[in-house]
Amino acid sequence: MKLFAFLTVLTSTCLCVSSMGTRPEIVDAILPEVKQQGQIGYLNCSVINLNPSSAVLQWVKQTTPSGTPLLISSNEKIHVNDVVEGHPKYYVRKSVINNRELYQLVIRALTENDAGSYTCMIRLSNQNYLQWPKKLGLLTVQIAPTVKLDSKSNIVVQEGSNITLKCEANGIPTPNITWKRGDGLPLPGGGFQHWGGVYEIYNINAATRGQFLCIADNNVKPPADYAVQIEVTFSPYCEAQMDTVGQVQNRRFSAKLDCIVAANPRAEVIWYKVNPATGSLDQIQDNDKYDLNQQDDQRLKADEKWYSLTIKTVQGSDFGKFYCHAQNRFGKGNASFVLFETMECQGPNCPSIGGNGANNVHISILTFTLTIIASSFLYYG
Ligand SMILES: *[C@@H]1O[C@H](CO)[C@@H](O)[C@H](O)[C@H]1NC(C)=O
Ligand SMILES: *[C@@H]1O[C@H](CO)[C@@H](O)[C@H](O)[C@H]1NC(C)=O
Ligand SMILES: *[C@@H]1O[C@H](CO)[C@@H](O)[C@H](O)[C@H]1NC(C)=O
Ligand SMILES: *[C@@H]1O[C@H](CO)[C@@H](O)[C@H](O)[C@H]1NC(C)=O
Repeated sequence: MKLFAFLTVLTSTCLCVSSMGTRPEIVDAILPEVKQQGQIGYLNCSVINLNPSSAVLQWVKQTTPSGTPLLISSNEKIHVNDVVEGHPKYYVRKSVINNRELYQLVIRALTENDAGSYTCMIRLSNQNYLQWPKKLGLLTVQIAPTVKLDSKSNIVVQEGSNITLKCEANGIPTPNITWKRGDGLPLPGGGFQHWGGVYEIYNINAATRGQFLCIADNNVKPPADYAVQIEVTFSPYCEAQMDTVGQVQNRRFSAKLDCIVAANPRAEVIWYKVNPATGSLDQIQDNDKYDLNQQDDQRLKADEKWYSLTIKTVQGSDFGKFYCHAQNRFGKGNASFVLFETMECQGPNCPSIGGNGANNVHISILTFTLTIIASSFLYYG
């Protein structure tokens, strides 16, 4: 009984087709189209034997997997009257090459919503929907990356702590995310690039301060980036520019001690002289004897300051040990200096005889030689 029914259907189908002549057919697959946002997409449907009296070529878009399909066109007629940038959103361009007819669906100003499957089908008036010829074409719309701006752009952390930088990005295809430093220096853990949106930095120190960039790239221009500024608070580090400084005594020359202090927040800097008799620290004030200064220098980094102590008119009692001491709410640091006695004037402010450095050295050597000769005389004399 069942077999009989099947045969009847089959027979009637065959009769029907033969009564219409040759059955229309979609030739070739519809090549998948990959375009970027804003561009124009093209989907080609090539057919043969399309008889206009009984067949209509339709482009249909499957909007959602379960939703009602959207009928875009019937032959060259467009059913969706959307307009973008002053032009119809959809357009069907028909051309005939040999015995083939090409119905090209043109989709303007592509957006994310245009991505998906488009079906080219031939509606046959006297046949069941399931028997209509159809083929599926896929349209991919690539979207340039955008970074989600929900993370903080300024982070203040204390030295020694760990932080996690996070960066999320959207885009089609899914963008690759990398982190790097804004100043181009290597990353705290080594290397110049960290792959992935989540970046953990352990045991932060002062060198970690600065700008970090998250870059999202999916090969659709332009890549997106996002900058995070990291500020590191830390206890002071003091560094003596030269920890031993010589000067001749009683000749009205001065001596300068230079101390570079790195700290965040800025440190309070105090200079001390070690009292040779008691070993105690005497705080130095800016007065007739001492000049306290803080100078700027382009070579310094953001959290560094240059402090100097000038000991005017160096005398015998000035020789000895000095400290540059810095303190902020995170801790303290110091650098020590020794001022020692020399025979000749030292430093850039010494008077030069003959006005040139080479002569100056020459004269020192001469004096030194004469001294030796004089003492030899004393010895043998
Ligand atoms: C669609 O057809 C046009 C015209 O023949 C051709 O230039 C184009 O390359 C085709 N595109 C695709 C994706 O097949
Ligand atoms: C930082 O992370 C390391 C490794 O996970 C851990 O041992 C250390 O205790 C953490 N330090 C702080 C301050 O949380
Ligand atoms: C992500 O990076 C990998 C490795 O460099 C590359 O092969 C891939 O094409 C990239 N993906 C995107 C979407 O750019
Ligand atoms: C200098 O620093 C050292 C090491 O932290 C410390 O032991 C010393 O007491 C400090 N001296 C001064 C004068 O601050």
